[in-house]
Amino acid sequence: MSCAVLLVSGSLRSGSTNTAVLSTARTMAPPGMECALYEGLGALPPFNPDDDDGRLPPAVVELRSRVLQADALVISTPEYAGALPGSLKNLLEWLIGDGDARSIYRKPVAWINASPRGAADAHDSLRKVLGYAHATLLEDVNAAIPVAASTIGANGEVHDEAARAAIGRVMGRLRDSLGCGTPE
Ligand code: FNR
Repeated sequence: MSCAVLLVSGSLRSGSTNTAVLSTARTMAPPGMECALYEGLGALPPFNPDDDDGRLPPAVVELRSRVLQADALVISTPEYAGALPGSLKNLLEWLIGDGDARSIYRKPVAWINASPRGAADAHDSLRKVLGYAHATLLEDVNAAIPVAASTIGANGEVHDEAARAAIGRVMGRLRDSLGCGTPE
């Protein structure tokens, strides 16, 4: 069976280390995984429960559709002001608002913490929000892989070999956790 994985960066910054980690994850993913980078974070409007009443903004329709189609999410996020970025929490609020049982509820989610400074508060708050969402946090897949901006190449990927290998191992553990690539 093949697995679909949606890669979600918490950074909107061009030259983002977190987005580079996920771009690298896409290329390092083992056979049996189809990985796509979600690039709509900046287009999401602020969460408003009123809009769930049949007037969903197109960017939210697209987000929810991408998540429904994914077997798992992998998040890589910076820390801003001692927590996860507001834009990423906003994305998660839109998912929590989705009543579809295949949305974030029980969706397997893993993260790669790329911060050289630890970003412990960002990941504590991410864990808390994912807990409210009843996502299935894949603790055995999560990893801290510090990535310096100087190790990002012109192709937008991390070019440090040790970091690339570590990212590849995360994707391998995710494949094993999801059972991708096994006979149906
Ligand atoms: C930060 N950064 C930061 N880092 C941290 O460890 N704790 C924090 O509270 C903050 N707060 C913060 C606020 C603001 C306004 C900025 C601009 C930055 C640093 C930030 O997390 C770090 O530069 C990340 O590496 C950025 O990730 P990307 O954009 O490279 O993916």
